[in-house]
Amino acid sequence: MTHEDSRQGDRSREQSATDPSQTGFSPTLDWEETFQRNVWDYLGEVGETPRYAVVAGYIHKLLPRGRILDVGCGEGVLLDYLDPERIDYSGFDISPTAVTRARRINVDAKITVGSMDDFKPAENETYEIIVFNESLQSVRQPIETLRRFFGFLTPSGHIIISLFHNRNPESVGALCTRSFKAEIQAGRVNVIAASEVLNCESGLKWTIYCLGRPRTIETFDG
Ligand SMILES: C[S@@+](CC[C@H](N)C(=O)[O-])C[C@H]1O[C@@H](n2cnc3c(N)ncnc32)[C@H](O)[C@@H]1O
Repeated sequence: MTHEDSRQGDRSREQSATDPSQTGFSPTLDWEETFQRNVWDYLGEVGETPRYAVVAGYIHKLLPRGRILDVGCGEGVLLDYLDPERIDYSGFDISPTAVTRARRINVDAKITVGSMDDFKPAENETYEIIVFNESLQSVRQPIETLRRFFGFLTPSGHIIISLFHNRNPESVGALCTRSFKAEIQAGRVNVIAASEVLNCESGLKWTIYCLGRPRTIETFDG
């Protein structure tokens, strides 16, 4: 992939939050179509390392050994950054093409096709860490989704979320970030760490949040 192709990927990322066909309010076909067109190939490039490295760093620091769930795992790029001796990885994604490619990275990992709108862990499985790596913005109700996934955590578990700084304030990404920040302000989200990642070349930024269980459990568990 050329430098210009990567830039096109960056543009896709910004457009993806404004174009209704790419917001994640869209049916499976739209995400599937972007994977078939290889729009997200650039996520495997070296320039994307900082975001994945921070997410992976939090996972390894918080979890000497255990089970994680990667929600909207895409092509499983995060797997490249995780120690398979320590991390028992499961992931799912709405795009069958992405899941097929992710399975090639690690044939032992449990990676399935599914939607976060109706995902339920098999046999009441729980996870030490649940990751939303640039995927929470894709659902119509990100805060409701977050609340539901807290129910799939072990009692001492954590949720890690990466949120891209979309420069379009009307984008679903920006809306998701605003809703999430309102939860923090209201004390309904327990942020135990947060980092900002900057791509100095493109000026693109992400914030990566590490959440513990909410202090006011009743707010999240009903
Ligand atoms: C920007 S990509 C990020 C992929 C991956 N997390 C990464 O960082 O490499 C967003 C991902 O969310 C997935 N996605 C969108 N809506 C989804 C849904 N409702 N349920 C599950 N996955 C979804 C897309 O198919 C896509 O793989």
